[in-house]
Amino acid sequence: MSGRDDGWTTRPVEHGFLVGASVRSSRPLISIEDSLDELALLAETAGIKVVGRATQRMQRIDPATYIGAGKVEEVRDLVAQCGAEVVIFDDELSPRHQRELEKAFGEDIKILDRSALILDIFAQHAHTREGALQVELAQYEYLLPRLTRQWTHLARQTGGGGGRGGSAGVGLRGPGETQLEVDRREIGRRISKLKQELEAVRAHRGRQRAQRSRMGLPVVALVGYTNAGKSTLLNVLTGANVYAADQLFATLDPTTRLLTLPGGKSALFSDTVGFIQKLPTTLIAAFRATLEEVLEADILIHVVDASHPNASAQIETVEDTLAEIDMPRIPRILALNKIDRLGGKPLPEIAPKRYAAVVPLSALTGEGIETLKAEVERILAEAMVEIKLTLPHQRGDLLSLIHKYGVVDAEKHTEDGVTIRAHVPPRLIARLSGLDDEPQTSEEHKSS
Ligand code: GTP
Repeated sequence: MSGRDDGWTTRPVEHGFLVGASVRSSRPLISIEDSLDELALLAETAGIKVVGRATQRMQRIDPATYIGAGKVEEVRDLVAQCGAEVVIFDDELSPRHQRELEKAFGEDIKILDRSALILDIFAQHAHTREGALQVELAQYEYLLPRLTRQWTHLARQTGGGGGRGGSAGVGLRGPGETQLEVDRREIGRRISKLKQELEAVRAHRGRQRAQRSRMGLPVVALVGYTNAGKSTLLNVLTGANVYAADQLFATLDPTTRLLTLPGGKSALFSDTVGFIQKLPTTLIAAFRATLEEVLEADILIHVVDASHPNASAQIETVEDTLAEIDMPRIPRILALNKIDRLGGKPLPEIAPKRYAAVVPLSALTGEGIETLKAEVERILAEAMVEIKLTLPHQRGDLLSLIHKYGVVDAEKHTEDGVTIRAHVPPRLIARLSGLDDEPQTSEEHKSS
């Protein structure tokens, strides 16, 4: 899927019409209108200009056309009036809905759903090989049951979407020229190949992670709703130069940076992909491996945009997604970001028991950042384990690790070596219990 034009810059502007629907009995986290506002942001991020919207409250989802037949008629008229070429549904459409809606709206109108949009944005934003492979896999899995004649027809018209910066995007707004000849079986084969390639990339990353963990460095992972300010916070904490933008899903690939905390100890801080309500299931599955960074962290900093009107719902969405990836009980700090924008509004309601600390802050002005660092330090210290051991003289490398990451309570030099009593982070225990290993060189101490 290489050799594709840069879909981000060369796509003509399309006009989109948004459709939101909710079943009367369901109790969504956020209102249809707010959800459509978010969908509009997603559409804009994907380069679609939103020209209209419609909503429906229904008794039940129509098995054929998702919204009722009468509503389809109404939307078709509105779409024609606004001159939209794309109709975007706020919920994931089943393959049958997709087919029936394509029939109902005719060949000139493209039918998309929130999942397709998110996958499209992810394809544009994946910069690493792993990110690109994951998105491509998720796109194929989404596309496979939905392959219809209209896809190929549209592909011929639009030339497809596609990835930026080497991303191998499938282009969910219509597969590109090369996909025209690709039948289901070939897609199936491609899916297996992608899974194999991903395995290889992941094995490499697993080795990197194992090396980091051998160094005994605690890991602090930043999670949060898209646009909450994770990258900005990582930048201000570590002086890193991570791309931050007022855009959904600006960060896709995890970035890890070393930070020395006020007391002198170091920790690795990792930025991760943002979450959003109704994240496509194929995407969650594809990103599960990336989120291993999160699964193995010592502390999670859940960053929320406290100034957002739906901040509480966003917190719940993130917590639900974390539960979906079977997140173990890692101590969490809730970082209530963007307090500079509160303008007298109260902070969002939270369940304080969930968190080891709740820190109001502004990644933009720096307010509260020192408190956050101090809380990280406090929680890491609380998690430290007491050790007492005698290190042979030639293991000065381990002694310096204890000094660097732990708190030394007593140290005595004897003929046999150094007897030391200290509190150390749990992940250093594995390293210390490998006393028979070769001493580590100073090169290996450096952060990767
Ligand atoms: P994704 O990549 O979508 O997951 O976003 P993110 O959580 O990494 O957010 P990012 O750091 O890119 O910030 C999103 C927007 O919020 C940017 O325009 C930032 O400048 C802005 N922002 C971040 N922190 C603050 C803050 O404390 N105050 C204000 N006013 N704006 C902020």
